[in-house]
Amino acid sequence: DDLRLARIAEAIRVIPNFPKPGIMFQDITTLLLDPKAFKDTIDMFVERYKDMNISVVAGIEARGFIFGPPIALAIGAKFVPMRKPKKLPGEVISEEYSLEYGTDRIEMHVGAVREGERAIIIDDLVATGGTLCAAIRLLERVGVNVVECACVIELPELKGRERLGDRPLFVLVKAF
Ligand code: PRP
Ligand code: MG
Repeated sequence: DDLRLARIAEAIRVIPNFPKPGIMFQDITTLLLDPKAFKDTIDMFVERYKDMNISVVAGIEARGFIFGPPIALAIGAKFVPMRKPKKLPGEVISEEYSLEYGTDRIEMHVGAVREGERAIIIDDLVATGGTLCAAIRLLERVGVNVVECACVIELPELKGRERLGDRPLFVLVKAF
């Protein structure tokens, strides 16, 4: 596993000063260019969740849409997109979260999940944890049991794990 994790970490490109000065951007597009590292990434999540009775993989737009679906297919769960505002055509429920400036919102279709289902939430990266917290609230409002949040990368300096409190968070790579 250490070998797989090292390969995954190596395949993630860091771009300094993007999108603005001082930010070290964690670019997962280079991970996607490396089929072995990409497969290892998916496999590691699948190995963790395959026997946990998960029926919902909720993926957060946009980059959670890259990692979520292959995991959902492999564990036999449905994939539920959690989208940016005004993208979903049907009736939605939504949750706001705060950004550095202002707020944003994610939305989910009403009827996509049922009360009592067991879900994992997938995204590429956890920074402040605001996005994941909103996703958890959204699922819990409709009675879904959020078993764990899972991301490829964690930025521990931004304390997303603390914001999640006692909510389990599983990550493959920590970036400093
Ligand atoms: C990034 C990242 C996570 C979120 C993490 O997405 O992909 O979804 O920020 O930040 P947080 O932990 O502080 O909430 P972003 O909103 O930039 O959009 P994208 O995935 O659509 O590119
Ligand atoms: Mg995102």
